[in-house]
Amino acid sequence: MLKSALLRTSAVLKGLLLVFACLSSVRSLEYYTEKPDFMQTCRINEPEFVKCSTSSIQKLMDQLGKGIPEIMEVIGTFDPLKLKPIQFAQDNQGAVTLHANLTEMVATGLSKLVIKESKVSKKDYSWETKIYIPKLRLEGQYKMAGRILLIPLNGAGHMFIEIEKLNILMRTKTRLYEKGGFTFYNVTKIRMDLAPGGLKTNFENIFNGNSKEVERSTNLFFNENWRDFFEALRPLVTETVETTLLDILQKVFHLIPANFFVEDIPTSEQLYAKKKEKKE
Ligand SMILES: *[C@@H]1O[C@H](CO)[C@@H](O)[C@H](O)[C@H]1NC(C)=O
Ligand SMILES: *[C@@H]1O[C@H](CO)[C@@H](O)[C@H](O)[C@H]1NC(C)=O
Repeated sequence: MLKSALLRTSAVLKGLLLVFACLSSVRSLEYYTEKPDFMQTCRINEPEFVKCSTSSIQKLMDQLGKGIPEIMEVIGTFDPLKLKPIQFAQDNQGAVTLHANLTEMVATGLSKLVIKESKVSKKDYSWETKIYIPKLRLEGQYKMAGRILLIPLNGAGHMFIEIEKLNILMRTKTRLYEKGGFTFYNVTKIRMDLAPGGLKTNFENIFNGNSKEVERSTNLFFNENWRDFFEALRPLVTETVETTLLDILQKVFHLIPANFFVEDIPTSEQLYAKKKEKKE
């Protein structure tokens, strides 16, 4: 009991709130109650906010790359990053019909992510973020049926897609909420616009065991026509990146109070009460 009490005291001193699930002390971090050293705090009502916020989010991303222990407990490393299995189905949207299942997927390159601009709306605290990734590689096992660039595919095996000079415009919706005297972001929705500067790909066994020669020439064709290839795969790639980042951002922002990013953020009561008044 004494040992457990001491542990508790020292943890609180470190600024962490620990939750003891039971006497056998199964613990898990709930959220930060003290600002971590790597964080830079900004004020939204000051003129240089966008510049400050851009640098603040960059620092957060750099730290994610180095490893924030409480985040690693839930997502593992940020680079390489293990992705959850993805099931994708798209029917009759233009010329594209594609069904794909991606498993054992790993993304590399996220630690080189550059935040070019981070804007936060004072109206609803949604975000608009410009991101640049020099090289994002997605690699794993695929199962695919459908058509890409009019080529009927039905295969399964190892694949990679390497996207170069990737610019992303990310629009994020949030809902503020209160926890332990802090205001937090609940990240509810992400929309991404991807603009790649180049792409390399290889799908093994893309015709399910048929000629290796045809497989090679098809992959060559995809690489030579990478812009069209990317357009065909855009919904699949976008969904993969959106789902992955939404998951990470939700976890990060349930852990770190919004006050540590935006010092003068209103409480949820203040923000949403004001909105109600305006409607009436
Ligand atoms: C993907 O997985 C689902 C569920 O296991 C299955 O119904 C579907 O046929 C699979 N798609 C492909 C292209 O293999
Ligand atoms: C965050 O939003 C989702 C719905 O978008 C909701 O289900 C969840 O309860 C919210 N979490 C908190 C802590 O407010």
